[in-house]
Amino acid sequence: MVESKGWNWNVVKNNNENIWKTPSIESYYLLNRWKEQKKKNFLDLGCGLGRHSILFGKNNFNVSCFDISNEAITRTKEWAEEEKLKFDYKVGNMIELPYQNEKFDCIYCRNVISHTDTEGMKQVVQELYRVMRNNGECYITLGSKDTWGFKQTDWPLIDENTKLRMEEGPEYKIPHFYADYKLIKELFKDFEFINIYQVIDYYEEKEKIFDSYHYHILIKK
Ligand SMILES: C[S@@+](CC[C@H](N)C(=O)[O-])C[C@H]1O[C@@H](n2cnc3c(N)ncnc32)[C@H](O)[C@@H]1O
Repeated sequence: MVESKGWNWNVVKNNNENIWKTPSIESYYLLNRWKEQKKKNFLDLGCGLGRHSILFGKNNFNVSCFDISNEAITRTKEWAEEEKLKFDYKVGNMIELPYQNEKFDCIYCRNVISHTDTEGMKQVVQELYRVMRNNGECYITLGSKDTWGFKQTDWPLIDENTKLRMEEGPEYKIPHFYADYKLIKELFKDFEFINIYQVIDYYEEKEKIFDSYHYHILIKK
């Protein structure tokens, strides 16, 4: 299995930080959904700088913050302390979650679990199943095989679904697993699917337009 590497959050400072401190659009939908369902124990898997931990913490969820990057956990903790919020913090690798069985009602993993290869992905899915309660829900995004990254011929292929990202920046040499609909159905076959949709994000860098395709998946145990 390819070794997972955390994001290099040291290169994300000041103005670059804003995007990572603003909750994603769908987090507000999930916040309402999980509040209505009276869910309580929330795992922010691969919390990054903590934008979703803070959102759910301010809404009275019991928040566990987890990331492989020490820097991510340190900065999430600093922000939570400024907000007078108390969370549980753990540094580790998602292929072996340091939590008891059935601890969580809801798990949020946005642009995280793709950072492994096919073998690692299978282990993460098993771990998600183990730490989720019955009727628990989990939101996941996965890079899509339709995206430009999967088509980069000069990025090393680790296995049929996984490439090493080679541009300079926080994701340099980090493995990226890319999925398609059939693979998603197979990977998460032990769960009930609530929805699967694909989103295209457009962004421009150095006058070049990029379109980034991700699957957004909501599953239930
Ligand atoms: C794209 S960032 C997303 C951060 C956050 N989910 C958000 O939406 O703001 C990916 C995060 O996953 C973490 N990560 C990567 N591989 C990991 C692993 N094997 N176990 C735990 N966290 C990991 C990275 O360190 C990084 O903080």
